[in-house]
Amino acid sequence: QSVRIREICALAPVIPVLVIEDAAWAVPLAQALVAGGLPVLEVTLRTPDALAAITAMAAVPGAVVGAGTVLNAQDARRAAAAGARFAVSPGLTPTLAAACTDSALPLLPGVATASEAMAAQEAGFDALKFFPAGPAGGAGYLKALAGPLPALGFCPTGGVSAQNATAYLSLPNVLCVGGSWVAPEAMMCAGDWAGIEALARQAAELGAAEPG
Ligand code: 3PG
Repeated sequence: QSVRIREICALAPVIPVLVIEDAAWAVPLAQALVAGGLPVLEVTLRTPDALAAITAMAAVPGAVVGAGTVLNAQDARRAAAAGARFAVSPGLTPTLAAACTDSALPLLPGVATASEAMAAQEAGFDALKFFPAGPAGGAGYLKALAGPLPALGFCPTGGVSAQNATAYLSLPNVLCVGGSWVAPEAMMCAGDWAGIEALARQAAELGAAEPG
């Protein structure tokens, strides 16, 4: 499971975290993000249209679409049925892990402490979401985990921005970062897909600027 998640995290430095209020946004939004250099897309299961959006976006060439805010077995099953290729959760429970395994849905589970990271590792996960990254301690906290937990790779999410993403991406234990800043609600409501493509292009270059 984690091997596949690591492959997905290696595709781009930033995973856009998307809250899609209208399924009609799905295709132009995915096209804009892919064109800007961000092919990995996390659609949060927080809106009624999220599952329909996942299905629509999964058909966009180049897009690797996953479901975010996957909280339980039902979410995992629905996400897999909608065509999600991976799942992201803010935390990890044994039930959720089992449901993702049963659905063959690679899971990026959230952790915020060393103990949670160790428990996730015991459960077979070595690629983890660090959530909520900013409030939980930011890049300094994550850097401190690299010494004792060198086998773990993280995708920090929650409070990550164009301004602070580089601080995370320069850490050896960061695989990529996640964030909502590349798809602001106001731009989606306005249908400003060119503007979102430009934000995506800037975000994609964050990783390119990083040595190693
Ligand atoms: C989330 O699940 O909402 C993500 O953590 C996104 O956080 P952000 O809005 O701070 O990027």
